[in-house]
Amino acid sequence: TGGGLVFSGIQPTGVPHLGNYLGALVNWVALQNQYPSVLYSIVDMHSITQPQDPAQLRNNILDMAASLLACGINPEKAILFQQSQVSEHAELSWILSCLTSMPRLRHLPQWKMKSKQKNEGSVGLYTYPVLQAADILLYKSTHVPVGEDQVQHLELAQDLARIFNNRYGGLFPEPRALLSSTQKVKSLRDPSAKMSKSDPQAMATISITDPPDDVALKIRRAVTDFTSEVTFDPETRPGVSNLVTIHAAVAAISVEEAVLQAKGLDTGAYKTLVSEAVIQRLTPIREEIQRLRSDRAHLEALLARGNSSARELAAPVLAEVRHRVGF
Ligand code: ADP
Ligand code: NA
Repeated sequence: TGGGLVFSGIQPTGVPHLGNYLGALVNWVALQNQYPSVLYSIVDMHSITQPQDPAQLRNNILDMAASLLACGINPEKAILFQQSQVSEHAELSWILSCLTSMPRLRHLPQWKMKSKQKNEGSVGLYTYPVLQAADILLYKSTHVPVGEDQVQHLELAQDLARIFNNRYGGLFPEPRALLSSTQKVKSLRDPSAKMSKSDPQAMATISITDPPDDVALKIRRAVTDFTSEVTFDPETRPGVSNLVTIHAAVAAISVEEAVLQAKGLDTGAYKTLVSEAVIQRLTPIREEIQRLRSDRAHLEALLARGNSSARELAAPVLAEVRHRVGF
């Protein structure tokens, strides 16, 4: 694709689930081969907008690093780094926050949702879209793979690029969204909701480190309906259609091809086929995560290398920002 810099971040929530993998990480792996410059950040500063146990956070950061590598992120092709270790993120975030009005943030959907859940959220939770904008602009990113739920946050980053450029002279390109084309993976217990780490039902979510028996059990218990034939119709048959979505994505085939392979099978037999396809896809990833987890020092060294590469890119941009602002 010639030029372009891709940036994306993921919170260190430990090991990703199948939805994260199919909805985001598979695309991340593809992008590292398509763009000359790619940065993927484990955004630990975003995590502390809500209470975190320090020991667990530290573990989750390494687990996410291991998971990203096992899923195919290649540190030779993409800079993989830890946000908090590049202090320029926090500094640019402050400067951008001074260009952001309070009402601009109040209407963003995640604030509305999360602050309601917590009754009142922290200032950090309120301003974290500004930190997200800083994450993106700090590298003069041009393309940002995001889920649909993040589009409004990317619009804030675009606005802030424009506002900064107008006030201080052109510096930041307006980053563009790269929307993932895969269907959302739904909860196995409630196919009207997306698969999510925050789902309290253990059987609803497949972790990419689930052993084969767990994957098989969860898929066997997945909610379907009373029609035994397999068809793809997310509106009227969300449960079965979710299995088709998962099957197609893990086997890297089209939805039509997946439905074709289900011909003559009832949903019970199809579940066996789907779980075999999921297990086949996840097994090498699970084994690689286990291997990487057993060598913390290696993971830490790898991240340290990514952190210093990110710092090298960030430092001159922030120096220019500081100069423009008058510092
Ligand atoms: P969660 O909903 O489990 O908290 P995040 O919001 O942290 O997941 O999402 C991390 C990335 O994974 C985002 O790019 C998001 O769009 C993607 N993602 C999350 N859940 C799903 C899903 N069920 N299907 C497809 N993509 C998903
Ligand atoms: Na690349």
